[in-house]
Amino acid sequence: MALFSKKTEEKTEFTVLPRHIGIIMDGNGRWAKKRGMPRTYGHKAGAEVFKKISRECGRLGIEEATFYAFSTENWKRPQEEVDTLMSLFKDYLLEAKADMEASGNLRVRFVGERDGMSEELIRLMDEAEENTKDRNGTLINVAVNYGGRQEIVSAVNSLIASGKTEITEEDISSAVYTMADCDLIIRPSGEERLSNFLLWQAAYSEFWFSDVLWPDFSEKDLHLALAEFEKRNRRFGA
Ligand code: FPP
Repeated sequence: MALFSKKTEEKTEFTVLPRHIGIIMDGNGRWAKKRGMPRTYGHKAGAEVFKKISRECGRLGIEEATFYAFSTENWKRPQEEVDTLMSLFKDYLLEAKADMEASGNLRVRFVGERDGMSEELIRLMDEAEENTKDRNGTLINVAVNYGGRQEIVSAVNSLIASGKTEITEEDISSAVYTMADCDLIIRPSGEERLSNFLLWQAAYSEFWFSDVLWPDFSEKDLHLALAEFEKRNRRFGA
């Protein structure tokens, strides 16, 4: 796999781009609290930033970006918060359906377990995937009801179900939701941990952390992370 093969488009200043970036959208709750507002207010602002940053990934020509939107553990949050997040996913999907042009050339996939999601949301997710699958822009993976360990277990189980008796690394790589290794993981909000995100794909990821809370994350922050990535000397254990 040619990790450094993609040249930037004319508008960008990057000569080396990560092929696949992972973004942990963290800090919505703290951002809202600072403003004396409920956590859900932060998630609403965070959803707008998700749209802005996915468009910027498209403009930069990044091949694949995975956004951590809802983990398998997030079901334990207060029901009102879970409901708000589900309704933000639905609004995004309805908006995308009503105005296919608005998402430019982006392809959208939802990665994670469909079990537990409402039938309506599952139908909208399936439709969005179908409607955008022939595009050739950035592949935006929205990780919803996602857990890295659960992803690996489910990949292994599907391989066993297909009749495999001995499983290789290549087999698992081809059975996880996002098949490409992740080159760069971005986590804002001051936390410096992986939180069960892309465990398999992050084996050789570079990490970029920042104190900015997700609702304040801008294109400039993405550019800072990419500029830092350009300078990293990746040896993949060699
Ligand atoms: C973690 O921050 C963030 C989440 C659990 C939700 C992330 C979801 C979004 C930004 C909305 C995405 C929307 C679409 C349409 C994909 P936190 O709330 O735990 O922050 P805290 O650590 O400050 O409490």
